[in-house]
Amino acid sequence: MEKTLVLIKPDAFGKNHAGDILKIYENAGFKIIAVKVMKMTPELAAKHYVEHIGRPYYPALVEFMTSAPIMAVVLTGDDVIKKVRELNGATNPAEAAEGTVRKLYAADKTKNAVHASDSEASAAREIPIFFSACEIFD
Ligand code: CDP
Ligand code: MG
Repeated sequence: MEKTLVLIKPDAFGKNHAGDILKIYENAGFKIIAVKVMKMTPELAAKHYVEHIGRPYYPALVEFMTSAPIMAVVLTGDDVIKKVRELNGATNPAEAAEGTVRKLYAADKTKNAVHASDSEASAAREIPIFFSACEIFD
C-alpha cells in the first residue's frame, strides 16, 4: 500500500491542531501507521529539505521548523500521496482551497501548517529520515 510522510509543523502543532488535522486524513479514509512528536534539528531540516538549501526562504524555513515541536506521521491508503497533498492545499495558504488544512490552519507561505511528500520517490526518501522500520506497522 502507498505511504506518505506528513509533518505537522510547529505552528499547527503548537496551536493544538494536530488532532484536527489527523481527523481530516482519517475522515478521508487514510490510516496512521506511524507517529511521533519530535524536535527537528538544523541537521534533520537540511536532510529533509535538501532540495531547498540555498533558496532565499531556506534560513527562515529552518528557523521555523526547529523552533518548537513537530509531529511526524506516516499515512497509508489508496493514492495517499496525491490525495493528502490535495487535502493540505496550496503551499501559500492565501491560494489554498476552502476546507484544506492550509486554508484552515496556516498563516503564511512559510508557516503553512503541514508538509506532505510530493511523489513516491520523495516518500521513499523522506519516511526513513523520521522513522526506523520497527516504528512503522505496515
Ligand atoms: O510544502 P510544499 O511541497 O507545498 O512546498 P515547497 O515548494 O516544496 O516548499 C517547502 C516548504 O518551504 C514550504 O512548505 C514552506 O514552508 C517553505 N517555503 C517558503 O517558506 N517560502 C517559499 N517561497 C516556498 C516554500
Ligand atoms: Mg515540497
